[in-house]
Amino acid sequence: MSKKATLEGNVYYPSQDVIDQANVKDYDSLYKHSIENREQFWTEEAEKLEWFQKWDTVLDDSEKPFYKWFTGGKTNIILNAIDRHLTTWRKNKLALIWEGEPGDAITYSYFALNREVSKFANILNSMGVKKGDVVTIYMPQIPELMFAMLACAKIGAVHSVVYGGFSYEALSERIADSKSRTLVTADGGWRRGSINDLKTIADEAMKRSPTIEHCIVVKRTKQDVYMESGRDFWYHDLAALPMASWKYETQKLDAEHPLFILYTSGTTGKPKGQVHTHGGYSVYTSVTHKYVFDIKDEDRWWCAADPGWITGHSYIIYGPLINGATVMMYEGAPNYPYPHRWWQMIEKYGITILYTSPTAIRGLMRFGDDWPKRYDLSSLRLLGSVGEPINPEAWRWYYEVIGKGKCPIMDTWWQTETGGFMITPIPIMPLKPGSATKPFFGTEVAVVDGDGNEVGVGEQGKLVIKNPWPGMARTLQGDPDRYVKTYWSEFAKQGWYAAGDSARKDKDGYFWIIGRLDDVIKVSGYRLGTAEIESALVSHPDVSEAAAIGLPHELKGHAIHTFVILRQGVSDSKEIRDALRDHVAKEVGPIARPEKVTIVDSLPKTRSGKIMRRVLKAQSLGEDVGDLSTLEQ
Ligand code: WT7
Repeated sequence: MSKKATLEGNVYYPSQDVIDQANVKDYDSLYKHSIENREQFWTEEAEKLEWFQKWDTVLDDSEKPFYKWFTGGKTNIILNAIDRHLTTWRKNKLALIWEGEPGDAITYSYFALNREVSKFANILNSMGVKKGDVVTIYMPQIPELMFAMLACAKIGAVHSVVYGGFSYEALSERIADSKSRTLVTADGGWRRGSINDLKTIADEAMKRSPTIEHCIVVKRTKQDVYMESGRDFWYHDLAALPMASWKYETQKLDAEHPLFILYTSGTTGKPKGQVHTHGGYSVYTSVTHKYVFDIKDEDRWWCAADPGWITGHSYIIYGPLINGATVMMYEGAPNYPYPHRWWQMIEKYGITILYTSPTAIRGLMRFGDDWPKRYDLSSLRLLGSVGEPINPEAWRWYYEVIGKGKCPIMDTWWQTETGGFMITPIPIMPLKPGSATKPFFGTEVAVVDGDGNEVGVGEQGKLVIKNPWPGMARTLQGDPDRYVKTYWSEFAKQGWYAAGDSARKDKDGYFWIIGRLDDVIKVSGYRLGTAEIESALVSHPDVSEAAAIGLPHELKGHAIHTFVILRQGVSDSKEIRDALRDHVAKEVGPIARPEKVTIVDSLPKTRSGKIMRRVLKAQSLGEDVGDLSTLEQ
């Protein structure tokens, strides 16, 4: 093997340097051990963390598919993410480097992080938040977002973070579903030079959310906002009170105590509240982060996702902090004020690992090579990708122009449901651009047909996970039946988890993810349900019926295309089409704004009245529409 990294044909081999410093040097033998002795493997990993009390049972499968991990154990994710670092030299290590879009910046050591999180926990406590209560967090990417999440965990409250780009409809729906009594928000956040008016949106949501009693507002932009007396409190006012002390005892919790709810878009419209727990999630996020990104104390880790999504939960907040890493967080847009912003920050802060999405890479690639070339990116040693398949062109640009041909790209396949990486390389592995490579330790994955038979090499099939893992979502908030139905019913006989993705496996055992099999559209790596978009459209007074599909898009991966039947008396015009696009953006959020609205007289449906989205898709792409025998004539 050559000492230098090489790209031979379509296979990339890591350099000797990468291999020499890798945390895991032999994938095959550790994988074999982890599969043959799964519970032992997870025991060994869990023992590397601290526990208030050790578990009795590693895996409790007495109520399949409601698996439980480390039962009998007592922990709190904060014990490992903060507390244990305070007794070591890491107390003075940077936990967070944060930069705001306007250019303001601040850093926090683990010592300071503990102070801020404890203070926030006291404030939440004084607002009546107790163990088990759900706190909704609707924030810009500022340090207080991290503090609020960690403070909830410390108390044993359950956070439900709603992405700051979501609309008041989406926010109030999530508040109602989780029956949350407390909302944490801000007076706004900076995005592309203007203010994202979070408090105004939160006010609209709270009008529709009778469960909310208190709203804590962090001052970020200093713009004037409406404050309702008795309900809304400025965070800085509360923080000035004597009760907001810097000490708060981390609550001892059962390993299976819920840590957070995070909503994913559902096929039937109602979002699904994925529930994750303290014990298993602590183990899973930290182990995946340590082995896949080869994390070292010297690293400066930047996961450029929003904490409002699972990527941010697992790999900005929990996994990296448990590993005692230094985490970078940036508030704003990658190309503001110029397309050099990310590259400038990599040089400025000496970032060693960058983890982002194919959409972000494609978006920055389009500005050309001169922007990154102005900066010294030599601190980078590893790169990562997540959210959708990465196209080879973007992979090569990322590899050559950003990684200078020396940084392996970890293409990690996983889901909100899985809590952490499931199919992913580790740095020593040969890579093939566009493939997420092989299963992570402890996990068996297969590509099967509808009956569960493995399909042939290179053939397309359904992706299944054959075993439970510690990071898995435990249930759907308030709807355990739907959890069973969505993930565990298709292959109930075998007891497998159906991921909802289609994939191929090649002759070397590498997995190639193709895309979603259900009604989920991935736009710029974000997950949107066709049903959410359709119900937003039909809520418009001029619309009688609507269908949404995803079609390939150069930058976004997929874009939303909608087909609308107007009510009688309303006729097609550019104005109405634009109004409908705006309407969806307002109802669901700007990321859901349809690329195109096409006005039609009818929609293809089955005899039972289900819209055949695959027919619309095939027609739009000029492809053969296939078997239409079930189509209503
Ligand atoms: C869906 C899950 C998990 C973090 C972000 C997305 C797609 C995710 C990859 C990848 C190909 C990917 C799948 C999956 N996906 N990562 N590396 N290659 N596809 O989480 O919003 O829960 O979406 O994202 O389709 O099912 P999510």
